[in-house]
Amino acid sequence: MNKIESSFLNKNQFGEDFLWGVSTAAFQIEGAHDSDGKGSSIWDVFTSQKGKIKNGHHALTACDFYNTYQDDINLINELNIPNFRFSISWPRIMPTGVHPINQAGIDYYNKIIDSLLASGIEPWITLYHWDLPHALEVKGGWTNRESVSWFSDYVEVCIQYFGDRVKNWMVINEPSVFTGAGYFLGIHAPGRKGITNYLKAMHHVTLATAAGAKIIRERIPNANIGTTFSCTHIEPATDSAKDIEAAKRVDTLLNRTFIEPILGMGYPQKDLSVLKKLNNYIAPEDLDNLAFDFDFIGLQCYTREVVKSSILTPYIGAELVSAEKRNVISTDMGWEVYPPAMYHILKKFNEYDNIKKIIITENGAAFPDIVKNGKVHDIKRTHFIQDNLEQILKAKNDGLNVDGYFVWSLTDNFEWAEGYNARFGLIHVDFETQKRTIKNSGLWFKDFLS
Ligand code: NOJ
Repeated sequence: MNKIESSFLNKNQFGEDFLWGVSTAAFQIEGAHDSDGKGSSIWDVFTSQKGKIKNGHHALTACDFYNTYQDDINLINELNIPNFRFSISWPRIMPTGVHPINQAGIDYYNKIIDSLLASGIEPWITLYHWDLPHALEVKGGWTNRESVSWFSDYVEVCIQYFGDRVKNWMVINEPSVFTGAGYFLGIHAPGRKGITNYLKAMHHVTLATAAGAKIIRERIPNANIGTTFSCTHIEPATDSAKDIEAAKRVDTLLNRTFIEPILGMGYPQKDLSVLKKLNNYIAPEDLDNLAFDFDFIGLQCYTREVVKSSILTPYIGAELVSAEKRNVISTDMGWEVYPPAMYHILKKFNEYDNIKKIIITENGAAFPDIVKNGKVHDIKRTHFIQDNLEQILKAKNDGLNVDGYFVWSLTDNFEWAEGYNARFGLIHVDFETQKRTIKNSGLWFKDFLS
């Protein structure tokens, strides 16, 4: 390891109970899109449509984790990573989204769980990481109110088969992203657009988050139950009143809209008037069914956004000033490299007085990586992780609540609409041969965790 990759950071500074892990999601790594009875997901369908994914990439094989999971679990072990977050593919275990189950899919996840436990790695399951069964999308997907009961039945199945060994559960991953991109903008699966689809999906997903969590609580008394939110530090482009107001609306949409009902505060309709339209879909009994007392909240913070007022953008009256326009350093996602965002986000979410624990369930960066003589010198990624950890440590030393850090991601994988060009892994994947190469960032993390 060259000197510049070392850092003053030491795991012990974070305390003995601090959780260290790495995160993945089923659709992004598994491949085996139709193996052993798996049904189609909305992402299988979306990726098969022309022009949806950059460079025509698809995830038919992805990282082939379905077949190579044991090798990848060995790599997690080799990197000294004690916690592994992965998601269950709903259509792999319930091909049409509802009963009957697909036993081969259940067997597959049981093998993963057993293998992790045998290696001393703690499994952390995300129940929904965006791959809704296509058969349910045909019935309206998350825009259909029945989605709450479809999801509840699916959660029951997961608990029945995996709940005896898995303690750590996350109900829904980044609701603001998959409803915004998939139901309003149409740039993610299922490709729906418009405010009506978006608001219906938002409300049903929020109800499903609380409903799923309640089922886990009833069935697994000692479960550690969380759910994850995407969060972005927001700043106004100037100190004009217009930009400050615009930034406040974007902050409400991106950081508050999904978590506040879960925390029992209702939707932040006062600060974002379009949310008043939600009242068309909120049934009287819903008000008691939106909140849940989670054991932890997973925050996933990658960057900051700078916002200016814009009358051209409907509903939000704001636009983002891209990193490119601002001439700042960015990742392959076009996201500004701005580690202090992590500190600001921790401070902001610590202001809610009913969050018990905060775990950073994702953080990482996509940079172009090249394998040279069997090595990947991804110095930018190593620095990105170190700089974010410094911000977390600063937050911790300031007395803020933060209890864990999971890197996104174990290996390079299918980055949704971006395809395979955005590489986030601690481990490089050659997608032609499926060869894995531990990057220097992975070696640094291994050393840090040892
Ligand atoms: C958020 C999502 O949960 C994950 O699926 C995605 O790959 C990363 N962030 C990076 O964009």
